[in-house]
Amino acid sequence: MITQEMEKLLRRMQGKRVMIVGDVMLDHYTFGSVSRISPEAPVPVVEVIDEQYLLGGAGNVARNIVALGGLATMVGLIGDDRDGDTLNGLLAESSIDTALIHDDRRRTTRKTRILAQNQQIVRVDREHTAPLCEPVVGALLETLTKLGQHHDIVIVSDYGKGVITGPIMDALRSLRGKNGIRPRILVDPKPQNYDLYHDVDILTPNAKEASEGAGISCAWPSGPAKVAEALFKRLQCRDLLITLGAQGMALFEGPGKASHIPTFARKVFDVTGAGDTVIATLALAMAADAPLIDAAVLANHAAGIVVGQVGAATPTLEGLRKSLASTQATSVAALPGPDGLAQD
Ligand SMILES: Nc1ncnc2c1ncn2[C@@H]1O[C@H](COP(=O)(O)OP(=O)(O)OP(=O)(O)O)[C@@H](O)[C@H]1O
Ligand SMILES: [Mg+2]
Repeated sequence: MITQEMEKLLRRMQGKRVMIVGDVMLDHYTFGSVSRISPEAPVPVVEVIDEQYLLGGAGNVARNIVALGGLATMVGLIGDDRDGDTLNGLLAESSIDTALIHDDRRRTTRKTRILAQNQQIVRVDREHTAPLCEPVVGALLETLTKLGQHHDIVIVSDYGKGVITGPIMDALRSLRGKNGIRPRILVDPKPQNYDLYHDVDILTPNAKEASEGAGISCAWPSGPAKVAEALFKRLQCRDLLITLGAQGMALFEGPGKASHIPTFARKVFDVTGAGDTVIATLALAMAADAPLIDAAVLANHAAGIVVGQVGAATPTLEGLRKSLASTQATSVAALPGPDGLAQD
């Protein structure tokens, strides 16, 4: 049985709006089969059977919000090219509201994965990651400022392709106005950009990203607490959620209060996009005014669902209800302290 609080939370999440700012990308999958080696070079010849385009990067975060019954506003950048049109079509199909700036000097980011016999053979990236030109930054700032006023929750989905810069983060922080509270800013960080994320509400790095930001190892059991201490010092953020893959998550509600949210034994097929699911679920639950610990528990369940599916899958409400119903007892534990020992 799912608790009444969680059921109420799932209901309150319906129709809540979240703004996502970041690097949208086109995920392109080419599926084929290999039966011979090329006569031209020692490489396999892939005979293409099928192709698929999906929303990637920040677009996948938006897709997760919508899958859970929320409303998503996507602010980002596309090129003036066919991939940009495809991306726009996918966003519309997913009912994601868009405010995309067109940049005719850059191409739309596309990642092509070529798979055969269920195995990835090669990935081909098409992208520009040079700094944006001034008019494009100006257009992004204008859009952000205009739309940001109407949002309580903003996700920064930074894949390091150029959308997230100092001025963009400053503009987001200055939207908070006099009370300094809304919009709350959630960041999925790119390690090279850590210095941009000071004074945000919560960051959701994975263990590797957290470790890179702190300059120390995040290895279990003593790592997460040490890394968190360093990140709080470096960034002055309010809270921190470190995702730990098969170990689940470590939630820090300020530097003083740590919890461990373990995962439960399950079949893992594909961890791609689990981080996107975490930040999307967390944001939507926060938009519904959930206590942070409940938002994180829900995000852990949502991520558990998508790693059990192939490809960058999205969770459903039904899936969440089922997952919550089957595993409430062990949802939160104490996090080992910096000495690796259990804390009271
Ligand atoms: N092997 C696993 N078993 C169970 N749950 C998992 C596993 N791997 C990931 N998860 C779930 O997914 C969440 C996020 O995973 P992870 O820390 O790998 O994020 P990530 O590296 O940012 O993912 P992404 O590939 O999207 O960038 C975890 O907190 C956990 O809930
Ligand atoms: Mg990630």
